[in-house]
Amino acid sequence: PRPIIIDTDPGQDDAVAILLALASPEDLEVLAITTVAGNVPLDLTTRNARIVCELAGRPDIAIHAGCDRPLARKLVTAEHVHGKTGLDGPVLPEPTMPLADGHAVDAIIDTVRARPAGEVTICPLGPLTNIATALTRAPDIAPKIREIVLMGGAYFEVGNITPTAEFNIYVDPEAAEIVFRSGVPLTVLPLDVTHKALVTAPRNDAFRALGSAVGHAVAEMTDFFERFDKEKYGSQGAPLHDPCVIAHLLRPETFSGRRINVEIETRSELTLGMTVADWWGVTDRAPNAHFIGDLDADGFFSLLTERLARL
Ligand code: BDR
Ligand code: CA
Repeated sequence: PRPIIIDTDPGQDDAVAILLALASPEDLEVLAITTVAGNVPLDLTTRNARIVCELAGRPDIAIHAGCDRPLARKLVTAEHVHGKTGLDGPVLPEPTMPLADGHAVDAIIDTVRARPAGEVTICPLGPLTNIATALTRAPDIAPKIREIVLMGGAYFEVGNITPTAEFNIYVDPEAAEIVFRSGVPLTVLPLDVTHKALVTAPRNDAFRALGSAVGHAVAEMTDFFERFDKEKYGSQGAPLHDPCVIAHLLRPETFSGRRINVEIETRSELTLGMTVADWWGVTDRAPNAHFIGDLDADGFFSLLTERLARL
């Protein structure tokens, strides 16, 4: 199995991504989960990560709490999407599993250093603060990381927190710039693809029909999460942004994209956090990312449902 670190700010869609990874032990070895402030403040994202691991029957997973604010800006949160706790919807018990010792940034650095070069994949599902801090503090880890596969950014779908910015990049654009310029192989799952991973009513019924605590919780999470997109955009259901990262590791053939140059806007007030993606190759800037543009949504949902059935 491919060793991964999941860096996350749960978030209902982060929760489903964690469940998908934990349900796939033959493909993925979750070395650690690191938490970051994003959808809600750090104490809540950390609590939610513990709730999700316990829901999956995995209180043994090492969860490290990380940065509680972006590198250079005030934290922007998204309770308007995810609710007050960040994981509104299902009623789940308060977690009792312990947090792992050590800051998330140290855990990322130590884990990458401890493994042979080219082994560890990092999966950021929230603002990139922990990853950028690790790369800045320990530049020696960059050439050792196999790949960073992240959810963030947008091109044709423009923005969801401002007209031109996607939430994860917008919250910490300075961190995003460090990651996109790090030279680490990068795969990016932007809104262009995650807005195609919609939990329609039949897909949510399939989660509920699993008849398990996990199936029920996922259905309740997406019920809650979808009200935002339905009311605001008239969308057919909740977009499962973050699980696209894990699904890309499991079934890359379900996705298609291009190797392109992506720069992060960090200065303009109007377009702060925009992923300036050279999709049409109109500059001579070197490609630094595999930018995903499309997915086979039915394939994605059958994989997800099939894997969640194991928990
Ligand atoms: C991203 O922002 C968060 O609200 C979601 O968890 C996802 O990671 C989508 O823009
Ligand atoms: Ca997230």
